[in-house]
Amino acid sequence: MCGIFGIVTDKEQALGPILTEAALRLTYRGYDSVGAATISGSKIDLRKDKGRIKDVAEAYNFAEMIGSRGITQLRWATFGEPSQVNSQPHLDSDGDLVGAHNGNVVNNVELRQQFAAEGMTVRSMNDGESCVHAVERYINKGFDFIEAIRRAYGDLQGDYSFVIGQINDDKLYAIKKGSGLVVGIGEGFTCVSSDLPSILPLTRKIMRLNDGEIITLSPDKVELHSVKDGSLIQREPETVTETMEAVQKGGYAHFMLKEIHEQSQVAREVLHMLDGSPDVAAVIEKMKAARNLYFIGCGTSYHACLIGAVYFAQIAGRPVIPVLAPQFTPQYAPTVTSKDVGLFVSQSGETKDVLNALEVAEAKGMACYGLANVIGSTLTRATVSSLPLCCGYEISVPATKTFTNQVVTFLYLAYRMAGRDTQELAAIPALMDKTLEMVAAQVETIAAEINGWNDLYCLGYGGTYPIALEGALKLKEITYAHCEGMLSTEFKHGPLSAVSQGFPILFAAGPQDVPLIVSGLNEVTCRGARAIAIGQDDPRLHANASDVIVLPQSAPEITPLLAVLPLQLLSYHMSVLRGYDPDFPRNLSKTLTVD
Ligand code: G6P
Repeated sequence: MCGIFGIVTDKEQALGPILTEAALRLTYRGYDSVGAATISGSKIDLRKDKGRIKDVAEAYNFAEMIGSRGITQLRWATFGEPSQVNSQPHLDSDGDLVGAHNGNVVNNVELRQQFAAEGMTVRSMNDGESCVHAVERYINKGFDFIEAIRRAYGDLQGDYSFVIGQINDDKLYAIKKGSGLVVGIGEGFTCVSSDLPSILPLTRKIMRLNDGEIITLSPDKVELHSVKDGSLIQREPETVTETMEAVQKGGYAHFMLKEIHEQSQVAREVLHMLDGSPDVAAVIEKMKAARNLYFIGCGTSYHACLIGAVYFAQIAGRPVIPVLAPQFTPQYAPTVTSKDVGLFVSQSGETKDVLNALEVAEAKGMACYGLANVIGSTLTRATVSSLPLCCGYEISVPATKTFTNQVVTFLYLAYRMAGRDTQELAAIPALMDKTLEMVAAQVETIAAEINGWNDLYCLGYGGTYPIALEGALKLKEITYAHCEGMLSTEFKHGPLSAVSQGFPILFAAGPQDVPLIVSGLNEVTCRGARAIAIGQDDPRLHANASDVIVLPQSAPEITPLLAVLPLQLLSYHMSVLRGYDPDFPRNLSKTLTVD
């Protein structure tokens, strides 16, 4: 994730402070490098470096930057290490275009070679520079700006938004494709930004954008063109009346619901990041050569480790030992050596239990890698290298989007271990959206019907066993009910005695495990339980379960990623129905820095 902001004003003025303020509001989107550019007549003033906005803005005195147009960008490194040259904005070859992007251009490496071969000056490894050269390529051929962007769009693969401007002009241009972008319209200025909350302190008159729209910002107006055919798009601005907090929740009642719905987008982003990351190949090589491979985490992150171990076994034929972090020291540390590899998984990167295990593992000489959402956290700094989860801030205490991106990452790594084509995974984001659409109303109804129960079970098998544990954890965290997650086949070895009339039992079923799940369904329904199956459309589930929450058809290994979505929604609705705040459950903390 990165953040961009561009502004066009009706007069030359000190834009540095405005750009700095905007960058501060976008800090959550990237914090390893920052830059600002102002355009004044035929001059571009570009200042940028790695580091945090406060430090870079002070060191380079952004405050003195003047112009009538300005762009700022916060980078969160994907292509190219954090460095001054890789920081954004970027100039074109002869320095009369300046632009910055947010997102991932996945054919960046090929494009950079093409640009260099065509005689352009390529200065960095960063894909934001490719956006600038892609436009330069067509401006040089004599096309106007809109046409140049349309053609650049055809060359730039991936999901991104960018904003770009030229000397001796009074406009900025932007395009949205897959990454967030919103327009603001104020007195004597127009602006564009990666998110809405960063615009609201400047103006409440905004325009929401769709993918495939080219935006032309003038001091007094905004024009939209379709990238498809260049036609003009008519759209009236709207006035935002909600509070800042409501806006930050993106129109959802709670952050948890917003984050549940962000899962497809962040899955897309992490897949792009993994495709372009130079660290992945190194991690894979190390894992292939490892004697023992450990996936280590706590809570939700541990559940992702469990699925990771299933994926590695089933897809890559590689056994993995998933470990609850505090158990690493007593059970595994005594036998660990430098031939072993550990992947430490943590949303926050600060969980003390995980850091304790990491310290012990490192002392034993184990090669330690990280998988974390918070870049710059203790975990990412203490490991050899760390893969980012690309989720942006997850505010709600119960993890949702960070969990699914952990699972997506494990699936991706298993594919790479097996030498399989990772393009097969590109279907995941759309399947997630389809799942939410298909299950939403039914899950809300079921939540109301079973909400009276304070004792529930959530069962799964194979790849859905960890999903059952995760579904049960979500329910426990935010409904305060007792929900036990179990392997479905274990239910008959004891818990079956608890079944009474109407007792709710959730079953997450992978398509290949339906016959086994059917046995479990019958064991409990014949004793009066309400068996709620979650799985692909299958007559055997319909014939044997009390309710079937139908998931879209997908490859078996994608089912766990989809099956968790109705469980997240179920716990959310039950929590709200009980009058609790799902975002901030009692007694719990997002980051547990104690033993
Ligand atoms: C806390 C949270 C859990 C989380 C666990 C691990 O207990 O309440 O939701 O799963 O920590 O957090 P991590 O940041 O390491 O993934």
